[in-house]
Amino acid sequence: MELAVPSRPAASAPAAPAAAPAAQRVDLYTPIHKALRAFMSATLHDIGRMDAADDAEVAAALAQTRSLLEICQGHLEKENAFVHTAMDARRPGWAAHTAAEHIGHEQSLRELAVAVDAVAAATGAARAAAALKLYRHLALFVAENFEHMHSEETAGNALLWATHTDAELLAIHGALLASIKPQEMAVALRWMIPALNHAERVAMLRGMRHDAPAPVFQSVLRIAREHLAPRDWEKLTAALA
Ligand SMILES: [Fe+2]
Repeated sequence: MELAVPSRPAASAPAAPAAAPAAQRVDLYTPIHKALRAFMSATLHDIGRMDAADDAEVAAALAQTRSLLEICQGHLEKENAFVHTAMDARRPGWAAHTAAEHIGHEQSLRELAVAVDAVAAATGAARAAAALKLYRHLALFVAENFEHMHSEETAGNALLWATHTDAELLAIHGALLASIKPQEMAVALRWMIPALNHAERVAMLRGMRHDAPAPVFQSVLRIAREHLAPRDWEKLTAALA
């Protein structure tokens, strides 16, 4: 899938500030966190219901889990590099707590990767036991991340809004987006587009249509059509017409 990073941050930002109410500030966190919550929830569900005796089902569930772990690793690296840097530049030391939580997440991601490999390598009853171990570990990781993301969206945003203008936040977001590889962007959009509400989805795609090359926007539309419920897809196409 060819998905170049949108060229101009303001209109291509998933936070879609152009369509937001006047009083609403640029939100760097919530759109990608909606995607991560959906991806984490779906994957936890899939690992929990996985038939450990079904090789194809196991392979698909483990591949999805590995993709989730990659996205989570990339996400925390982007927050470290772009968001925490901006926070600390205006309030030195402020990001230390959330950065420390990221270190814990990286340890969990390494342990989860080992747990995934253990399921893949096991057979028979041992595979079922390894799958349950992975499920429980993943559940705790999801629980911790849900609390962490809430803190970022409330306390983190409050700090960013007190110390940065919307133009500055859009510049940070643009730099962050430009650092995302096309394949990583495609996975993020696959989960973000269905996870956003209709207004957010329309605003984001309008921004992309305005900024991104036509083939890139067509790739995004294909992701939307593949993963949206039929009613949501109809509403989206009507709004974009
Ligand atoms: Fe974070």
